[in-house]
Amino acid sequence: MTGPTTPAPSSWPASGSASETRSSARLILAEAPVLAHNYHPLPVVVARAEGTWVQDVEGRRYLDMLAGYSALNFGHRHPALIEAAHRQLDRLTLTSRAFHNDQLVGFAERLAALTGLDMVLPMNTGAEAVESAVKVARKWAYEVKGVAPDRATIIVADGNFHGRTTTIVSFSTDETARAGFGPFTPGFRVVPYNDLAALEAAVDETTAAVLIEPIQGEAGVLIPDEGYLAGVRELTRRTGCLFIADEIQSGLGRTGRTLAVDHESVVPDILLLGKALGGGIVPVSAVVARREVLSVLRPGEHGSTFGGNPLSAAVGSAVVDLLATGEFQRRAAELGDVMDRVLAALTGAGVTSYRVRGLWAGVDIDPALGTGRQISERLLAEGVLVKDTHGSTIRLAPPLTITEEELRSALGALKKVLG
Ligand SMILES: Cc1ncc(COP(=O)(O)O)c(C=O)c1O
Repeated sequence: MTGPTTPAPSSWPASGSASETRSSARLILAEAPVLAHNYHPLPVVVARAEGTWVQDVEGRRYLDMLAGYSALNFGHRHPALIEAAHRQLDRLTLTSRAFHNDQLVGFAERLAALTGLDMVLPMNTGAEAVESAVKVARKWAYEVKGVAPDRATIIVADGNFHGRTTTIVSFSTDETARAGFGPFTPGFRVVPYNDLAALEAAVDETTAAVLIEPIQGEAGVLIPDEGYLAGVRELTRRTGCLFIADEIQSGLGRTGRTLAVDHESVVPDILLLGKALGGGIVPVSAVVARREVLSVLRPGEHGSTFGGNPLSAAVGSAVVDLLATGEFQRRAAELGDVMDRVLAALTGAGVTSYRVRGLWAGVDIDPALGTGRQISERLLAEGVLVKDTHGSTIRLAPPLTITEEELRSALGALKKVLG
């Protein structure tokens, strides 16, 4: 295998506690009878990782250009995050919300300060945060806006990806995500993405909220026209409904700013965070909102056994502390410019078009050269991990800790497989 030239860290951690001795090939074969087939992973079995690099069972090294769909914005096992997790593991891991714990309020204070919003509802996965926001928006519509009982609607965008629960796939426009999972939850209207006129036409007195991704990640890193997010903000304010920004993938430094909505100086009513909030260590998500909005929840109406647990809160606080330095946002912006320039040079030479915001790119490959999956497999053979979104589009989303040399090396591998 001809991998990127930048060496992996010399001090890989000692072998983990698992006594797994099977080869990659055997481990992959062993999966079929015992694991649900809801994924189609690339044929690589990762055994350890550090920073931007992962290593498979046989010791082959790969540059991680996916970063756990942006859950690993700070790279694998960032020392500050690992230290925060270890410290907390040695003290207290779980209380449930039946009791207070000494880590949670600090996490909420930090997150409110980082986002400019007031209150936090801690959850675990992204889908849970979305589900929670749907509940909060509906309750707000009945109690504050005065929508007739059970009539609240939420407007979403075509091509959305907000998760996999039954309510969320109810408003997906991806047939693979929906087929066979009905009956679906009512109360959603789908409008074209990046179309303010269509959005305005869909709003009526039943509208509780508009729920959108400021950049549609799974759809292929689709960036709306400049002014769209500000337009959604103005429209929702004028018509008296909530703006819910799902920044589970776009948020926390990925786009070169703390949040993707920051590019248009927009503050939503409800912000959804997840993925990188758990530092790639624990699942942590949050609904962050204005006080008047999140105050509609009262004891007993919503919750989660693990939401806000002290281990998650300690790691989440360490994540927010990293972001508060601004270093990761700056790196994403600067290296995003490098990625943009290299992709521009590849356009017409295997790349048909691409979209970049910070260290996040959707790259459309000439279908004559292969599907996104085939390109991903060829990059794997070159020691670079990426993932297709759909068709011939691949997503590049390396850890924000990547060096320029590593980034150029990964993009060099892309050039090679297209050549
Ligand atoms: C924008 C967005 N929202 C929600 C989710 C769901 O997050 P999770 O997989 O943690 O449930 C994702 C996952 O990719 C996402 O990209």
